[in-house]
Amino acid sequence: MRTIEWDDEKAVVKLVDQTLLPGEYKIVECTQLDELIEAIKRLAVRGAPALGAAGAFGVVLAFMMKEQDESKLKGEVEKLKKARPTAVNLSYGVNRAWQAAMRGRSIQEMSSYALEEAKRIAEEDVAVNKKIGEYGSALLEDGDVVLTHCNAGRLACVDWGTALGVIRTAIERGKRIEVIACETRPLNQGSRLTAWELVQDKIPVTLITDSMSAAVMREGKVNKVLVGADRVVKEGVFNKIGTYMHAVVAKVHGIPFYVAAPLSSFDTERSYKEVEIEERSPEELLFFGKKQIAPLDVKVYNPAFDFTPFELIEAVITEKGVIHDLKEDI
Ligand code: MRU
Repeated sequence: MRTIEWDDEKAVVKLVDQTLLPGEYKIVECTQLDELIEAIKRLAVRGAPALGAAGAFGVVLAFMMKEQDESKLKGEVEKLKKARPTAVNLSYGVNRAWQAAMRGRSIQEMSSYALEEAKRIAEEDVAVNKKIGEYGSALLEDGDVVLTHCNAGRLACVDWGTALGVIRTAIERGKRIEVIACETRPLNQGSRLTAWELVQDKIPVTLITDSMSAAVMREGKVNKVLVGADRVVKEGVFNKIGTYMHAVVAKVHGIPFYVAAPLSSFDTERSYKEVEIEERSPEELLFFGKKQIAPLDVKVYNPAFDFTPFELIEAVITEKGVIHDLKEDI
């Protein structure tokens, strides 16, 4: 199954519960908007492009709510947009489905226009990722070892993936590529999701802790760094916390640092200063699963994303081509 899709027969959103991977592969069905918002908040569905599709399907669920008037609907849709603030795709998906719905003259028509648009967003995501793969794979050479952070694979999208999509396409085209996956503390999207996806696809992958990236780059074990993005702004890119650290280290070692992102993640009218970085619960650092790993009264700082300026980025790979001269082209 795709990471997220609409089930016409049941009129529900179905998604792979990513909190359970790699131990358990379970599909969750959201029949109510509240359930979907909860799934987004607890990262059952996550990754910028997948959040775009989730947002759009969420609008459909909003129109299916029983008791509704215009202001309640608008309030629910705002709640959906705010479920996670950093990845711009969530509000992009919500806005597109909402605008499509506005063409309808009855709630039923609105709901079916929203659904049409949400399905279009999901289909586009797969096609866009394949295009990103085509452009990006030309940047990878046979024998490359690529370091990646977090999960920008099929689980972060509807299918195929952005950064991992580039790697998949390069391999499909006969290049031998190996991946180094950083575990991505504190929620381990790298070890739980990226490593799982790549092992499933039999793509060679080695898992390291985030703090090992400088050492492996210094040891000459990495040819390229390739990550996804949650939002591309005027001056650079927001992505999972730890991305900036890898970019600084890559610069020092002369290793090209690439970002793969669909244009739906671009918000280039905005400055990095205006973007809210999601701060997550201290529990994520105080516990590892159920095990306590820090004193409960210690002060915790837990931002989920960081900002990497264009100076550190060699190029951004999009579905329309590769942007090298980031300052001028964007
Ligand atoms: O907190 P997450 O797991 O939603 O963070 C995801 C990332 O940071 C990804 O790298 C980003 O969304 C790009 S996914 C193609």
